[in-house]
Amino acid sequence: MSQTSGNGVGAIDLEKIQKNSDGSITGVAKSAFNEVVVNNPYFAAGGGLMLLGTTLAVARHGIVKSSGFFYRQLLVDLEIPSKDKSYLWFLEWMSRYKHRSSRHLSVETNYVQHDNGAITTKFSLVPGPGKHLIKYQGAYMLINRERSGKLIDMTNGSPFETVTLTTLYRDRFLFQSLLDEAKKLALKAQEGKTVLFTSWGPEWRPFGQPRKKRMFGSVILDEGVGEAILNDVKDFMESGDWYHRRGIPYRRGYLLYGPPGSGKTSYIQALAGELDYNICILNLSENNLTDDRLNHLMNHIPERSILLLEDVDAAFNKREQSKEKGFTSGVTFSGLLNALDGVTSAEECITFMTTNHPDKLDPALMRPGRVDFKVFINNATEYQVRKMFLRFYEDEHELCDQFTRKYRDLGISDVSTAQLQGLFIYNKRNPQGAVDMVETLRRPSTVF
Ligand SMILES: Nc1ncnc2c1ncn2[C@@H]1O[C@H](COP(=O)(O)OP(=O)(O)OP(=O)(O)O)[C@@H](O)[C@H]1O
Ligand SMILES: [Mg+2]
Repeated sequence: MSQTSGNGVGAIDLEKIQKNSDGSITGVAKSAFNEVVVNNPYFAAGGGLMLLGTTLAVARHGIVKSSGFFYRQLLVDLEIPSKDKSYLWFLEWMSRYKHRSSRHLSVETNYVQHDNGAITTKFSLVPGPGKHLIKYQGAYMLINRERSGKLIDMTNGSPFETVTLTTLYRDRFLFQSLLDEAKKLALKAQEGKTVLFTSWGPEWRPFGQPRKKRMFGSVILDEGVGEAILNDVKDFMESGDWYHRRGIPYRRGYLLYGPPGSGKTSYIQALAGELDYNICILNLSENNLTDDRLNHLMNHIPERSILLLEDVDAAFNKREQSKEKGFTSGVTFSGLLNALDGVTSAEECITFMTTNHPDKLDPALMRPGRVDFKVFINNATEYQVRKMFLRFYEDEHELCDQFTRKYRDLGISDVSTAQLQGLFIYNKRNPQGAVDMVETLRRPSTVF
């Protein structure tokens, strides 16, 4: 008769244990183990489940680890932070890229203020935050545009962003060609254009869309003046070695002074176009411009750019006038002098300043090293009158003679070139009209 410690299938059979053992203690233990663990179906089932669970857990861990490993081995990432120059280039490239599956776009709006004051708005549709899949030169790329929820760029109040490009390791060289393409596209948009930069916090940012270059010949200064400045700038640009060998800071300052509307600003724009340079405009009367920021900005001018300080006299006179009102402009005169002296870039630094009142300028600003080339840009001379007339009305030599004679007879010398331009624009297709209206130049405030 068999003695069991319970009923049913899972009960332990003591007799069987005894029978299967050889009588020694180890024999009994072995036999008991076999009976309890191996032959017991409940235990076996539980053990099996446990083993299965453990195996799956190990496998899962393995898969996670190996996928990370394979990810690292097979895929490559490229991260472009929003602070980097190529960030905007890339977004622009992406918005124009045809083989793009995502339709998730966001809009970027640019205002462009034209010379005549008109404003046009341009919308660019760029890929919005999120994931986008593209196929580039036969390779798939996952593009993830992420916005940091917490970090904010203090200079413009926008959240920091990054774009991460992921592709197969074997296609990694495509990143380079993609970025090159994006850069080329961006630079092509600027071809034949002048980019205006303005200060934005401590950095320079393009202001609006690049403007069409102003033709050098379209600004008519008195005989030889425009060419003299151009030659001086060109000579300076070619003399890098000369400066470095003598240990002289490689910079040159120009001051264009004269009455309003004589073409100072226009000339600098045309000069930048001629040299294929951009323009960084700094407004010294800006309230939140401090000496530190000024210094930083002057030492981080984008390459191939002319620094333009307009109406240099106004910034400091305004400061004195408004002192009693408790208002002080951020930048001090000595701050400007130090910033001008402290420009330490290896690249050349060309600074242009304009003013209507050179007499109000402190001699300290005018000393060589800060201003090396001063040019008086006056109201229209007879030479300019003739040249401007023929520029507006090509080949009208006879009417040009009549116009100049009448102009001379008026006996006035304070006609600005801007005034002349106004008269010619009014008589756009009518040179005779311009000759007939020459009298109106007597009154600078004539409104046509
Ligand atoms: N010498 C010139 N040749 C051609 N256009 C001129 C000339 N002078 C002025 N103009 C025209 O007159 C307008 C005003 O010129 P601009 O802004 O260059 O004058 P400015 O000397 O900078 O005046 P301000 O001292 O008031 O700043 C522009 O539209 C420009 O085209
Ligand atoms: Mg001006």
